[in-house]
Amino acid sequence: MATIKTATGPAYSRLLSVAGVRGNRVVDNAEMCTYIDSSDEWIQQRTGIVERRWVDENQTALSMALEAGVEAIKRAGLQPDEVDAVLIATVSHFKQTPSLAVLVADGLGIQDPAAYDISAACAGFCYGVGQADALVRGGLARNVLVIGVEALSMFIDLADRSTAFLFSDGAGAVVIGPSDEPSIGPTVWGSDGSQAPVIDIHAWDTVDKGDIPKITMEGRAVFKWATTAIAEKTKQALEVAGLAPEDLDVFIPHQANNRITDSMLRHLSLPDDVVIARDITHMGNSSAASIPLAMDALLAEGKAKSGDVALTIGFGAGLVYAGQVLRLP
Ligand code: UT7
Repeated sequence: MATIKTATGPAYSRLLSVAGVRGNRVVDNAEMCTYIDSSDEWIQQRTGIVERRWVDENQTALSMALEAGVEAIKRAGLQPDEVDAVLIATVSHFKQTPSLAVLVADGLGIQDPAAYDISAACAGFCYGVGQADALVRGGLARNVLVIGVEALSMFIDLADRSTAFLFSDGAGAVVIGPSDEPSIGPTVWGSDGSQAPVIDIHAWDTVDKGDIPKITMEGRAVFKWATTAIAEKTKQALEVAGLAPEDLDVFIPHQANNRITDSMLRHLSLPDDVVIARDITHMGNSSAASIPLAMDALLAEGKAKSGDVALTIGFGAGLVYAGQVLRLP
């Protein structure tokens, strides 16, 4: 019987770099309150958001992904040709096909990479990290570019005061490649499609020609799920990496709401010196981009450093979630 040779890779993978790009347009709560019946005080109290970033007329999901991707490859010390898989986590791409990933790969000058999009909303980046880790260790790719990118301002319903103030635009990119030491823990992930209606972007065939479908969300239902089931999954991501709260340096939850983060902190009982990402304050909720953007900002501001042990958790529309422990690049 013929023996099939199987792919094998290095024992471990790690993040080699991270880079972020934000929408150029700063929309503060005062401006937001010219669109919806709300107040700066209410938005800050309920979410922690002071301002959010939206694309300007020269930016798109593709342009932000390209910009973040170029920088992440440069910071990894690689040439584009050394990247052999491109994964884009997004729900903002307007086309069913071709994927945003092939456009980004082509724009970056990467020759012949595996390229595909991941539709896992606010968990998309952590899905991508889990995939990239498996691709590298399984021998299917050596260096993987993972980008979480969203231009959600285009999908916001400015007539819906219960969601319009939350969402924002940006791209966060990482390169994941081989490592001599264990640097990415097992990904804890899953989904609950029975809750699909809780966060929804309308189908394209339900809008008038030329219109863009809008986001709807039952905020309270998401809030409850995130602070109960997902807080527990976050704990699991730490446990399956064989770590205790004392081993953590940084906690980077999806930037959905500072009150969700606070509730998770009570559940996790993290030591006081763990650095907590609060990027939402000046960014809003950029879905798949929120975790890598927060990571990049913590490193740039010197609040976290290369080699720190971070815990991530993404959660959102699907409903879906994913998280893992990783060493910062
Ligand atoms: O990234 C994807 C995952 N998404 C999330 O994680 C979002 C999770 N959910 C949330 O973050 C919160 O549910 C929101 C921030 C969206 C809303 O906060 P909340 O504390 O859950 O508010 P609520 O929907 O329970 O509304 C409380 C009150 C209501 O008034 P009554 O019924 O108490 O009189 C709303 O009508 O606040 C009212 N309200 C507002 N008031 C001023 C709702 N939206 C607004 C607003 N400004 N924009």
